[in-house]
Amino acid sequence: MKKLLLSALALALLHVTVTQAQSNDIPHLEKRDNRYALIVDGKPFLVLGGQINNSSAWPATLPSAWSAAEAMHANTVEAPVYWEQIEPIKGAFDFANVDLLINQAREHHFHLVLLWFGSWKNGQNHYVPEWIKSDTKTYPREENDYGKLLDVMSPNSSANMEADKLAFAALMRHVKSIDGTDHTVIMVQVENESGSVGSIRDFSPAAQKAFEADIPAEFARSLHLSPGTWVKEFGPNADESFAAYSTAHYINEVAAAGKAEYPLPMYCNVWFAYPVHALENRDRPSAGQEYPSGGPQQANIGIWKAAAPAIDILAPDFYSDDFTLFRDIVAAYGRADNPLFIPESHFDATFGRYFFYALGKGAIGFSPFGIDRTQLPEVPNPQGIVAASPIRSVNPAENFALFNAPEAQIAQLNLDGKLYTAVEEKGSARQSIHLPTADAVISFGFPQPDGAYPPGTATFQGRAMVAQLGPLEFLVTGFDASVSFALPAADLQKEPNQQIEILEAEEGQYVDGVWRATRILNGDQTDRGLNFRGANPPLVRIRLHKLPLYDEAVHRNGE
Ligand code: DGJ
Repeated sequence: MKKLLLSALALALLHVTVTQAQSNDIPHLEKRDNRYALIVDGKPFLVLGGQINNSSAWPATLPSAWSAAEAMHANTVEAPVYWEQIEPIKGAFDFANVDLLINQAREHHFHLVLLWFGSWKNGQNHYVPEWIKSDTKTYPREENDYGKLLDVMSPNSSANMEADKLAFAALMRHVKSIDGTDHTVIMVQVENESGSVGSIRDFSPAAQKAFEADIPAEFARSLHLSPGTWVKEFGPNADESFAAYSTAHYINEVAAAGKAEYPLPMYCNVWFAYPVHALENRDRPSAGQEYPSGGPQQANIGIWKAAAPAIDILAPDFYSDDFTLFRDIVAAYGRADNPLFIPESHFDATFGRYFFYALGKGAIGFSPFGIDRTQLPEVPNPQGIVAASPIRSVNPAENFALFNAPEAQIAQLNLDGKLYTAVEEKGSARQSIHLPTADAVISFGFPQPDGAYPPGTATFQGRAMVAQLGPLEFLVTGFDASVSFALPAADLQKEPNQQIEILEAEEGQYVDGVWRATRILNGDQTDRGLNFRGANPPLVRIRLHKLPLYDEAVHRNGE
């Protein structure tokens, strides 16, 4: 008996230690079959983020930032940490703003993504401290090809890099000391839209010397390049590739110094190369003019992956109403070696469709920019006329309102590869999602009279999600969409004598991870598919079953 009691005690202790170890796990990325989840306190976490304005992480402005994030139902706030503010005098750190940020985020029940505004901010150096700005001898600037000093720190200067490393490491040490067990801070952005505006690369004498030398051996090996100069290896792309390597290498050192203190997941946001309007002799944007040269743009992903292994994610900021471009960007950055994360987008009605699309491609999170402006703009239709009834006006907050409660389930379903989305596009108001056991047929816009093609919506805002919960059980939701299920054509060809029907459709919500049904939908709510018409759509769990189309036994008897 005593022995039994002792081993029970030992088991209990073991349990406590294991649970503690799990909950003490710092936020990290998990990869499964080339899909990713951000794990926070042992569970997949979907970042429903809102980025505050650049100058909002101050005591005077934070209160309205929290209200804005609450109004949009975000679970995470992306907020800057300014190098000029935390290190006003070389080596003397002031973390008052960081402490305030973290304490207030906790009071308002938000997680935080800290944005390190260090050497780079939008391809420039505007957040470096004064003692750096005013000492260009010690902390050299990038020079353009005719020697002008730019407002960009040279990525080829070890003095610059060491100063940034020291400051960032101090920040991460501090974050660990106050948040190492609470995990309010779940991820860190290292620099902001790095690269240089004003020149394709640094032409200062020191940088020129490095440019004329051979490519660093380790970098060449990791890209399977033979030893040689930048020009020999990269030909017409030599200048930009050199800039990309130099910037990636610098930022990798900064990130690694921070991770040595506290290894949170770290990412770099990207001002990618937007296509230019085709003019004669101008078929591509120019590096350093239309986008910051040397940042992790589409063409530089390979260089960055090789030169910056301490950066976990290259994350594109998306500011365009071109949905085709969004698809291309998601395809470029959602790679087996790169989790998909959209850290910035417009904060308007367009963001919902991008958010749904990214979710269907496995995104670990999404975060519109500039959420703390005083008033949301009105939502115009494509003609610029404010939408009148019967067009539903879209509130950007409706997206996160829908996913806030079930975020852990959604992130888990995505990690398991069971989540699918459909997004309305011009000319395709009806779409099918091919799930392993059934097709979900999505029709956008209302009304949907029998026999007619669905009308779509005026602003192509229809969007739907279907996730596979069991063999014929699905979690469904969406906006301006109806969803019905059919057997896949290929299955019917193989076995024609079968059909599916609804067993039960429950409307409900996940409360603390547990499904709570509020009612059973039937009749008009299911006869023409599940309808998601209003601003606050429900989550629906639908179970179907298969049955024969004809009862063969009865037919035989009747013969
Ligand atoms: C992208 C930057 O990353 C943000 O900090 C901000 O400057 C926005 N652009 C403004 O649109």
